[in-house]
Amino acid sequence: MPSVYIETYGCQMNVADSELMLGKLAAAGYAVAARPDAADVVIVNTCAVRENAEQRVIGRLTDLRRFMKPDAILGVTGCMAQRLGNRLLDADARVSLVVGPDGYRALPDLIDSARRGERAAVTRFDLEEHYDDFEARRFAGVKAWIPVQRGCDYRCTYCIVPYTRGPERSRGLDEVIREVASVAEQGLTEVVLLGQTVNSWTDGTRDFGDLLRAVGAVDGIRRVRFTSPHPNDFTDSVIAAMAGTPAVCEHVHLPMQSGSDAVLKRMLRRYTRDGYRDCVARLRAAIPGLSITTDIIVGFPGETDADFDDTMSLVREVGFDDAFTFKFSAREGTPATRLPADLTLPHEVVDERYEALVREVRAIARARNVQRVGERREVLVEKEARKGGHLLQARSRDFRTVLVPDRVAAIGDYLDVVLTGTTGSTFTGAPVAARAPLPVAG
Ligand code: SAH
Ligand code: SF4
Ligand code: F3S
Repeated sequence: MPSVYIETYGCQMNVADSELMLGKLAAAGYAVAARPDAADVVIVNTCAVRENAEQRVIGRLTDLRRFMKPDAILGVTGCMAQRLGNRLLDADARVSLVVGPDGYRALPDLIDSARRGERAAVTRFDLEEHYDDFEARRFAGVKAWIPVQRGCDYRCTYCIVPYTRGPERSRGLDEVIREVASVAEQGLTEVVLLGQTVNSWTDGTRDFGDLLRAVGAVDGIRRVRFTSPHPNDFTDSVIAAMAGTPAVCEHVHLPMQSGSDAVLKRMLRRYTRDGYRDCVARLRAAIPGLSITTDIIVGFPGETDADFDDTMSLVREVGFDDAFTFKFSAREGTPATRLPADLTLPHEVVDERYEALVREVRAIARARNVQRVGERREVLVEKEARKGGHLLQARSRDFRTVLVPDRVAAIGDYLDVVLTGTTGSTFTGAPVAARAPLPVAG
């Protein structure tokens, strides 16, 4: 039996796609190899979102060439494959297939052709493609990634994703529910619904709120999360569904990108500082205890000191529980690269702002976390803690990482804990007896 090894870079959508590819190849008779040096087919599923993401992949391809079996087939898939297509084949003679995110159905055939010496780049978008008939081969874990939407129609001016993943399309509600029910049957209790602007999901008649309600009602599902929503798609009806569906967790990842109206406009984010603030207020009013995390870009072309101050002040005002921060990276072909060259900021300025933002984000997260010590949380045990020491890593509904002693629970268990301490970012927790049921009146 030939074997395949897949290495994944980028976002959860890519992880989900790798699971689909593995499923497809397993169905075609491939065994799953745990290491690249043992595999007959090595696939690198790539990300193109920032320059350094691509640099990492290029470095890794060089390394892999040395470990791989001499006759192994090397394939590049994902967003960088879509972006570079034939250019990747030209640049690297060892790569025999390049397949973009909508081409995975053809993988077994493409690998067969590669064995006969035919190299190919497949980068056509397919607006019907959701891989509904693929049986995902999931990486170990207690939660399941469920793609509900592919592509993106927003076209933020810095972003390569609309070019690498094509136009937005929503997957059918019935197909989503079928997959959720099947992972629940396999014993998984948490699902994460995926899409680039996931809350714009619609099948023409139903909206994302309807999807949340339907997923939350599947037997055996205790936690529903989703990523990433766009502020403009948080309609009252979607927020009401979040608030009214007990399985939907009290956490939202709400990319802000900038706190300056001028920068938001140049980014084509389609909301203002006030619009973002209003979205946060509506979410918080509807969902008590909601934790909010975000993505922020610093150094977008033309960002002034005053613009950056606006980002810092909105970060303070919202009080994020955590934030992913990025330095702007110019992506070939995106509208931001056509802005006047004199708007490009010097590296030192970007570095300085970036450091200041990271410091602020950490200080805010720490302050919010310190306040939570002593509170109770239900946690789901996800895996062994990286630091070892007989600890397991668990997660609360509000997305806090909690380390618990390994003798009190097993992976996949739910546990009631009291938060006993925090490093500022993660917590330690001690199990408490499940809450006694309230006495029933009369
Ligand atoms: N679809 C998601 C996220 C896509 S990429 C969304 O809209 O929220 C994840 C994050 O990478 C973005 O939120 C943004 O903060 C960052 N990002 C995207 N393109 C970038 C670029 N060219 N330079 C720096 N950061 C970028
Ligand atoms: Fe990129 Fe904007 Fe689409 Fe997100 S919404 S994937 S940032 S274009
Ligand atoms: Fe990267 Fe593509 Fe995801 S560019 S962030 S892998 S959608």
